[in-house]
Amino acid sequence: MYEQIRKLKKQKNAVILAHYYAPKEAQMVADFVGDSFYLAKVAKESSADIIVFCGVYFMGESAKILNPDKKVLMPDLSAGCPMAHMVAPGIIDEMRKKYDDLAVVCYINSTAELKCQSDVCVTSSNAVRIVKNLPNKNIFFIPDRNLGRYVSEQLPDKNIILNDGFCPIHASITQKQVEAVKSKYANALVLSHPECEPEVLSVSDYIGSTAEMIAYAKASYEKQFIVCTENGVEYKLIIDNPQKEFYFVSPSPCCNDMKLNTLENIVSVLEKEDKTIEIDKDKIAKALIPLERMLECDN
Ligand code: 13P
Ligand code: SF4
Repeated sequence: MYEQIRKLKKQKNAVILAHYYAPKEAQMVADFVGDSFYLAKVAKESSADIIVFCGVYFMGESAKILNPDKKVLMPDLSAGCPMAHMVAPGIIDEMRKKYDDLAVVCYINSTAELKCQSDVCVTSSNAVRIVKNLPNKNIFFIPDRNLGRYVSEQLPDKNIILNDGFCPIHASITQKQVEAVKSKYANALVLSHPECEPEVLSVSDYIGSTAEMIAYAKASYEKQFIVCTENGVEYKLIIDNPQKEFYFVSPSPCCNDMKLNTLENIVSVLEKEDKTIEIDKDKIAKALIPLERMLECDN
């Protein structure tokens, strides 16, 4: 299947993007592998005719918004992110009425509809930097309460209003589970994604986005790490650090939606070009504003 994918990519001038949480096989055939921010930048700069996005729907959708003239395909269009929808209808308007200078900051893990109502997008790797540089004091951070809380702790001068969304995968990691691994490997450093609950962050040695955790593990002189995020990152961690050891809590955190990006589905979508992301023009125009603002802010 690897050879078939290579041929199809060449024949169709297609590029494959994969998130670190996609299955190892998808990461192996991808031209670019990274976290949400890196992949959004790659999607924006791509010169391919077809982008195959091995991630979840909001990622493919963002790639399409940034490249409306390109064909954006997903190996399985049903791969979704429950957090992307976790904002109550009407609440953004309510908050805008309540605060004159409100900035609505939207984690990229969100639907295009939510992006259309937002001022700027962020990812977990640039959220603190972008919110810090906003002139607004009052910030409504959607949808993730945990990333929002983490940002607000870093920026005590801002009034960050939290929304009650969460990632079911990261939020299911408990402090008890982390301590159980720590009891076996007392010297291991705990690396956590800011989508984790505050109790887990409170026992962490380092907090960062997926790419930041990978960079931290590579740069560290330590040899053992407890990794509090989705288990797909193990592939990259082991490639980068064959001499180091990585442990996950039990049960191993797994985003089943990300795992729908199988080789079979990649071959099929490259052959048939059938699972395309379609978004109407008005929505693209509106959702592009906060996404482009994020990319500009971070340049
Ligand atoms: P990052 O890619 O920003 O680390 O986000 C993690 C995530 O949950 C993606 O779905
Ligand atoms: Fe969504 Fe969590 Fe899966 Fe990321 S890991 S796609 S935030 S459910």
